[in-house]
Amino acid sequence: CARVCDVLLYRGHVLHIAGSPDVDHARDALVSEPDGALVVDDSGRIAYSGPFGGIPRELAGTPVVDRRGCLLLPGFVDAHLHFPQVYTTDAHGGGTLLSWLDRCVFPAEACFADAGFAREAAREFCAARIAAGTTAAMVFGSAFPVAQDALFEETARAGLRIVSGRGVQTRGPASAGPLITGEAEAERLCRAEIARWHCADDPGRPDRAMLQVALVPRFALSVTRETFGWMGELHREHRSSGVYFHTHLSENDAPGVGEIDSVLRDFGTDSYLDAYDGRFGPGGELAGESLLGRRSILAHAVHCTDNELDRIATARASVAHCPTSQLFLGSGTMPWKRMAARGITVALGSDVGAGDEWLVSRVANDCFKVHMSTSADRAVSLEPAALLFSSTLAGARALDLEESFGNLDAGKDADFLVVDPSSWPPLARSVASASGPDSLAFAVMMALREPAIAEVFVRGRRVSA
Ligand code: GUN
Ligand code: ZN
Repeated sequence: CARVCDVLLYRGHVLHIAGSPDVDHARDALVSEPDGALVVDDSGRIAYSGPFGGIPRELAGTPVVDRRGCLLLPGFVDAHLHFPQVYTTDAHGGGTLLSWLDRCVFPAEACFADAGFAREAAREFCAARIAAGTTAAMVFGSAFPVAQDALFEETARAGLRIVSGRGVQTRGPASAGPLITGEAEAERLCRAEIARWHCADDPGRPDRAMLQVALVPRFALSVTRETFGWMGELHREHRSSGVYFHTHLSENDAPGVGEIDSVLRDFGTDSYLDAYDGRFGPGGELAGESLLGRRSILAHAVHCTDNELDRIATARASVAHCPTSQLFLGSGTMPWKRMAARGITVALGSDVGAGDEWLVSRVANDCFKVHMSTSADRAVSLEPAALLFSSTLAGARALDLEESFGNLDAGKDADFLVVDPSSWPPLARSVASASGPDSLAFAVMMALREPAIAEVFVRGRRVSA
């Protein structure tokens, strides 16, 4: 149905991580209910989740949508992808992050100044998200307000959730010229974006709004001490309304010419995180407002020191782990065990376009492989439930919206996918031969592909491109 539906009961195989575990306890929380039911009420919330045979008497007459043979999964959450790289998943960048940005990405992102181009891209971006079942996402935005307006409008039209903000650049190489503004203009555009789009669909309700805004400096090398100064102030002003902070951190350590060396040199700090952690005041001097908090998501964090990880954990900020992109750019392997030991929320990010997979379960598939294959003392064989957790509930937690979605518990919004294995034979074979909940979860995380994602629901409403 195109509108919020009447009360309906979806009957199928319910598979999710229930409750609110951390990643190391996801396995205990894995629910696999072969003849399961989700009752979705007229406000789009889950009124019942459990065995079909256990439906409470007051819901017994609910009309049934029969999806037997299908899996009912929580919608995927992508904790980091780039809107203006929707067409840039195939760019050969010459070997390092910085050369890839310079040669391929900055010129591609400049095209989003054109309103017609940006509108079409926003439509295709939403369509790709729907095809991949990505119901919620932290989206790294375009520099251009006209493109961000198109993104928010098309996302609202599709019925998806989004947090996004314009990518701020106040310095950079010549190739980034069209993306760069002065400091005052950058601040003005960020303020205007917050005023126009933050919780625009549900004013003043950061817990309920589907459209929310983030402050997004591209990375430390794209901005100045002064940028961090005014951005820290702006972040403090808007903290109570739930404006987010999102950026890249410590991604690529190519010596001498790499990102990390350059940040330390340019900012005169000992640590990359210092740039984001309140060292710089409004005039660029030392001591300002930290940009880290519960609504801060740091993409990559591959080469962080123990001290940086401790500070991320203390701030309750989250990490978007993007293994597909890290393989593509040779960025290295994020330290899974050191993150988990500190209780840092690690959610998966496709990082489209350095990542060439929109489907978060495919990112989980790469996640499994890279952590199996890293050096012996760091290697870990991730549990299937941990992969499902990282693709769904961890993302909702990273967005500070775990109360609203991320799993199929009664009381949450009905953000879910109907997965039909018969539409993708390799998945059908894997599912048919699964020997229990763990094996089923692994089959889904390894073998799911877009053709099997039959229906996508956000807050009980079926979304379509
Ligand atoms: N660091 C700064 N900008 C980018 C980007 O667009 N992609 C990735 N992967 N890293 C970045
Ligand atoms: Zn990125």
